[in-house]
Amino acid sequence: MGPRRLRFTEGIRRLVAEVDLSPRHLVWPLFVKEEGEKEGISSMPGVFRHPLKDLPALGEEALEAGLGGVILFGVLPDSEKDPLGRGAYHPEGIVQRAIRTLKRHHPELLVIADTCLCEYTDHGHCGVVREGRMGFYVDNEASLDLLAQTALSQAEAGADVVAPSAMMDGQVRAIREALDRGGFAHVPVLSYAVKYASSFYGPFREAAASAPRFGDRAGYQMDPRGGLWDALWEAQLDDLEGADLLMVKPALPYLDVLAELKRRFSKPLAAYQVSGEYAMLKAAALAGYLDERRAVLESLYALRRAGAQVILTYYAPQASAWLRESLP
Ligand code: PBG
Repeated sequence: MGPRRLRFTEGIRRLVAEVDLSPRHLVWPLFVKEEGEKEGISSMPGVFRHPLKDLPALGEEALEAGLGGVILFGVLPDSEKDPLGRGAYHPEGIVQRAIRTLKRHHPELLVIADTCLCEYTDHGHCGVVREGRMGFYVDNEASLDLLAQTALSQAEAGADVVAPSAMMDGQVRAIREALDRGGFAHVPVLSYAVKYASSFYGPFREAAASAPRFGDRAGYQMDPRGGLWDALWEAQLDDLEGADLLMVKPALPYLDVLAELKRRFSKPLAAYQVSGEYAMLKAAALAGYLDERRAVLESLYALRRAGAQVILTYYAPQASAWLRESLP
């Protein structure tokens, strides 16, 4: 007999298992809106847009579950959006208020703020849009100032970590400088370093009403056909610009990239199991095609195996409950 000797009983399998998954590894994405009641999202059954007033209870749930933290996304009515995404960096913006509410009730909860403009711009792009000779383009330099302002206002509101996701060149440096100048040298940057232009963000864009009104994000997010050079270039730049953690997004379709980053960088890595990955698992589970618990935990173990220290997943509270049942 060969390797099967180490699979014979659950006792021996448990002993030699290399990968561990605990609730502390998981970060729970939350969609926050100003008022009203919590609303479902049709492509993400079990995920909601929450009004500010629900946040203390959600923070409690995250702490009870032992999660690593939460990451916040703002949801604005169209009437409050504008070309420069002012809602992203307004001191009384939705995410700034959400951070303050959470930290007031649960100072010990780790709160991460997603730093981007697409949920706040009327055109739905992640930066400042200009008309060029070849149609519209997103102005990199002008966007950097607004992203830096956004991160600073999130830190001022009490965010423990900021997470730039706009894919503008130089955004980590611009944010790091703004935080340092503003007295927030201790606030880490979790960079969405390797972020593909992915169809798997579809349900998120419904949830956050952040789909681009024209064009797509292929001019700033990465091409799924790209070689490893692209991923390594992005990760190296963010590393040098001062990112504290590096993220790969989406997660499961890009395990090769995650594993390669693990070999090459010594900073902690994060993987984002995005809305479309959640939707696929949930739809299959609801149709009875997959055992949800086993499929979700297996996909999370795969991310840990490939090298993710931190996993952002809409399944965070549910996965934490499953882990506590301590079934294999
Ligand atoms: C903001 C942002 C997006 C996601 C996270 N931050 C949307 C996008 O880039 O279009 C997607 C997350 C998900 O699909 O769960 N730029």
